[in-house]
Amino acid sequence: SAAEKGGYDYFMLKEIAEQPKAVADTLLGRIDAAGALSLDEVRIPASVLREVDKVVIVACGTAYHAGMIAKYAIEHWTRIPCETELASEFRYRDPILDQRTLVVAISQSGETMDTLMALRHAREQGAKVLAICNTNGSTIPRESDAVLYTHAGPEVAVASTKAFLTQLVACYLVALYLGQVRGTKWGDEIVSVIRELSEIATQVEEVLETMEPVRELARSLADKNTVLFLGRHVGYPVALEGALKLKELAYMHAEGFAAGELKHGPIALVEKDLPVVVVVPSPRGRSVLHDKIVSNIQEIRARGARTIVIAERGDEAVRPYADHLIEIPATPVLLQPLVATVPLQVFACELATARGNEVDQPRNLAKSVTVE
Ligand code: G6P
Repeated sequence: SAAEKGGYDYFMLKEIAEQPKAVADTLLGRIDAAGALSLDEVRIPASVLREVDKVVIVACGTAYHAGMIAKYAIEHWTRIPCETELASEFRYRDPILDQRTLVVAISQSGETMDTLMALRHAREQGAKVLAICNTNGSTIPRESDAVLYTHAGPEVAVASTKAFLTQLVACYLVALYLGQVRGTKWGDEIVSVIRELSEIATQVEEVLETMEPVRELARSLADKNTVLFLGRHVGYPVALEGALKLKELAYMHAEGFAAGELKHGPIALVEKDLPVVVVVPSPRGRSVLHDKIVSNIQEIRARGARTIVIAERGDEAVRPYADHLIEIPATPVLLQPLVATVPLQVFACELATARGNEVDQPRNLAKSVTVE
């Protein structure tokens, strides 16, 4: 009913709008007065976490994209090798796991069969499993050694939005917490990133307030067949998520690529007026990556692409090559997906509407897939 949708036309719109609160709620009570993380709820003792020598993340769909981003954060802040794998592929390759492996299973519903089977396999091999989950008492957390709940609230629309942002928050918390417990050379950065995480909800809100041009752009592309998405570093999984949203909702051919791979194939797809969305890393910090992506934008634009550029506010270097510029607030490099994903959600939702698709219940898809 309209009341359930809080005055919005679709649950998805309501859930997109709820993201600042979902992010804030997922942080609530997990940062102490001194600015350190307190995750006692994760009942794996610090002594065990200090012994972990490998992290393996398993998930499906949108949650898998959160897991891909987590890999960058975990390896950077903890120096523990981390791999992220599709849950449906995981157990079939006989992965190497033991008591010192921490497996993180990410699932909004807590009922995805592929993810459940992956975590059962991991526990059989003696690994510790930490679930990141949005649904209290669901099967995946019940079968895990520990759980960190995301507090997104119920997500009804099939295409995941607020659950994804809170999965990211939970992943950052796990990465920062592992870093904090183990003590790495990134101690000072960890402290400052925890502080900046507290600002993120406000920044997501700012993004939401500037989405009208994105909706207008989406409507203007309603008759296109293909949209490509490019990103580097944590912007790569964001590109994959942007493409997934467009497939799910707009039933368009959409693909995400690592921008560095452009020259190894995807650039052959670029033709006049092809919309290409590019997620640009912050010009601060890892500026090498920024410069490389600016050349990628130039390359595709020289071949006629219509460039849709998501970049940090004040990033003047991209402006000359952006047919459409979507500005997002400045965040620490690893946290950028929290703000960069939001325009892509809005974009896909509006395109679906413009194409006359059912936004909350896309064809052929289920909210939770409980078969393998
Ligand atoms: C389904 C949904 C996706 C979701 C995926 C994983 O395919 O349509 O939106 O990302 O399952 O779901 P989970 O509940 O495990 O996060």
